[in-house]
Amino acid sequence: MNVRIAIVGTGYVGLVSGACFADLGHDVICIDNDERKINALNNGCIPIYEPGLDELVSRNVKRGNLRFSVDLPGSVSGREAVFIAVGTPSHPGTDCADLHFVMTAAEQIASNVDRFTVIVIKSTVPVGTNREVQRVIKHCVPEQHMAVVASNPEFLREGSAIEDFMHPDRIVFGTENEQAAVIMRRIYAPLENLGYDVLTTGIETAELIKYAANAFLAIKISYINEIADLCEIVGADVDRVATGIGLDHRIGAAFLKAGPGWGGSCFPKDTRALKATAAEHVVPMRIVDAAIESNTQRKYAILKKIENACSGSVSGKRLAVFGLTFKGQTDDVRESPSIDLIRALTEQGAKIRAYDPSSPAEASRLLPGLCMTASAVDAVKSADALVILTDWQQFIDCDLGELAAYMADPVMIDLRNLFDEQTVCSKGFRHYIRVGRKSA
Ligand code: UGA
Repeated sequence: MNVRIAIVGTGYVGLVSGACFADLGHDVICIDNDERKINALNNGCIPIYEPGLDELVSRNVKRGNLRFSVDLPGSVSGREAVFIAVGTPSHPGTDCADLHFVMTAAEQIASNVDRFTVIVIKSTVPVGTNREVQRVIKHCVPEQHMAVVASNPEFLREGSAIEDFMHPDRIVFGTENEQAAVIMRRIYAPLENLGYDVLTTGIETAELIKYAANAFLAIKISYINEIADLCEIVGADVDRVATGIGLDHRIGAAFLKAGPGWGGSCFPKDTRALKATAAEHVVPMRIVDAAIESNTQRKYAILKKIENACSGSVSGKRLAVFGLTFKGQTDDVRESPSIDLIRALTEQGAKIRAYDPSSPAEASRLLPGLCMTASAVDAVKSADALVILTDWQQFIDCDLGELAAYMADPVMIDLRNLFDEQTVCSKGFRHYIRVGRKSA
């Protein structure tokens, strides 16, 4: 049976979740206080880059399952479930998540419920937040009604969010109220009926699952990055090592791709927040600490690698950089390794021309003065080296012969291991340097 859902916060998570819930057959209204964003959505413009989202939104708007509004009080009325999907950035200057937006949204929702309502926290929030929200909303809910909290963390990757939503490894929700649990089960019934796992837990457990999952994945990447460093010294190949260990079901093949380090809006923020929660409760979180430190050091190591490839110094060198976002298939540059690296290279005197297929507007704000080109070829013209920082398919599809021909010195430093040495060199590159394998 369809559920009447409202989603507060029409950012990345809110919009993707709203569109997917609507596609599962629910009646969804997405709310945001940014009038421009809501107007744009009402005019069919999608404010974020996510493959397939455009079509999903327009299909569900057409069939009347999905609407957008700035009116929170009016939109909450009559809804069985109201999701909170607002941002939880790191508190400026600290490792803690800033819960201001979550708390304000919860109070506004609670003040406007006019029936039994589950307030579902989808934003990633530190352990204990749901209980705190439950305590706060008690004082806001109109007397004759009731609102209870459920924690429902999301596990969506940017670039494949719709696929992840519609084919989840698991759905997790935590609540202590039977009626809320029934509503949550109805919301996810279309996926549960297809055989996807639904795990119901207590609220603290659900909250911690999200942090523990993201930190575990970050640890996995940092681990393979350190193994990659060792591979380069001892003559092993990190991609083959990753395949070899990944075939063990207890380890699994995913998230073992060595590269320039993890970034994005989630892993850096969530590992810091987990560390802060553990510190608050005086619980050592040594492995998470080590992964954070390893990821910070990785940026210096990558800088050194690029310097070495440029005969010891990048000063005065013309470098082409492919990829500004924190990974391919997104336009998100938040905590992207590319940003720090380009800053450091520029400080060392390199002259950079960068190309990114998503043309991220935010990059010009973070890197004022950076020359961004409209094509891969434009970036490599007269370059002394090409540095590949993200794993866009467009880079793999480039005509390598053409790129090499345009370069002053055809040297490629491939920090995502997109190619094999033989192919790159057969196309005219003089030197191919990758991650986790000694170059010939
Ligand atoms: C991550 C999680 O994968 C999602 O499950 C989670 O829901 C999301 O955070 C979130 O908390 O909202 P996302 O940040 O979109 O998703 O990106 P990932 O695909 O996980 O990549 C994170 C970083 O790790 C990127 O910088 C990527 O380049 C890097 N990475 C990933 C590697 O270097 N190697 C790998 O093998 C995988």
